[in-house]
Amino acid sequence: MTGPPLLSIRDLRVDLGGSPILRGVSADLARGKVTALIGLNGSGKTTLLRALVREYPYRGTVRFFCGHDHSRPTPEHIGYVPQRLILDARLPLTVKDLLALALSHRPLFLGVSRTTRAKIVGLLERVGMAGHLDNPVEGLSGGQLQRVLLALALEPRPELLLLDEPAAGIDFKDQQKFYDLIADLNRTSGVTVLLVSHELTMVSRHADHVLCLRDGRIQCEGPPREVLTPGNLAQTFGTDMHVHHTH
Ligand SMILES: Nc1ncnc2c1ncn2[C@@H]1O[C@H](COP(=O)(O)OP(=O)(O)O)[C@@H](O)[C@H]1O
Ligand SMILES: [Mg+2]
Repeated sequence: MTGPPLLSIRDLRVDLGGSPILRGVSADLARGKVTALIGLNGSGKTTLLRALVREYPYRGTVRFFCGHDHSRPTPEHIGYVPQRLILDARLPLTVKDLLALALSHRPLFLGVSRTTRAKIVGLLERVGMAGHLDNPVEGLSGGQLQRVLLALALEPRPELLLLDEPAAGIDFKDQQKFYDLIADLNRTSGVTVLLVSHELTMVSRHADHVLCLRDGRIQCEGPPREVLTPGNLAQTFGTDMHVHHTH
């Protein structure tokens, strides 16, 4: 790794409901890079992300090297797209209203101020959704909704973006577009990304580094080419898998 990491995790331990969920997890997230977190369901991926945003208590050290000081992480620095958003898509809300609710701290019936509206348009442009400003959220496809949720995570401008299976449940073409978008954001803004994903072909294509979690421990880590091998995948997933590396 060149230069100091953005985030350094040492000997992280999380217990939930009296059970050990994560044990002895140590990892560095390289600044400005895309790190993928893979592993079976129940291996502790979401728990790790939730510990990083301090939704779960942990033992061990998480150091976040941001800005000028080595301060602790604060929500302003982390954009988080959770695995399952509890969003009632039947709400008669437009895309603009949804973002306005999150961005401006005033009720919708007061209207959306000109500055907020400009901010919303800017965010939607970044995720290729500016044309959907006045569309109802309920009419969005899975891929479009994920883009809107990603837009929400981009304000305030994060140094670290945590994405928990952001493209799960959307069709392959939209998945590809979504990963291209993340790669684009990473390239243009330099945001550091930690991405939970089961789409190993996309991981191989877009991640700089891969962390494999098994039963709450890091099983292996390294560049995709070295990590996504049949042997490692068999250890991580307990089954035969093969990833076709495109570069
Ligand atoms: N709030 C909780 N209380 C107790 N156990 C939990 C809680 N949240 C998750 N777990 C357990 O922790 C383990 C890891 O879950 P999770 O981090 O969601 O895995 P993943 O995201 O890799 O699928 C699972 O066995 C799950 O049942
Ligand atoms: Mg999960």
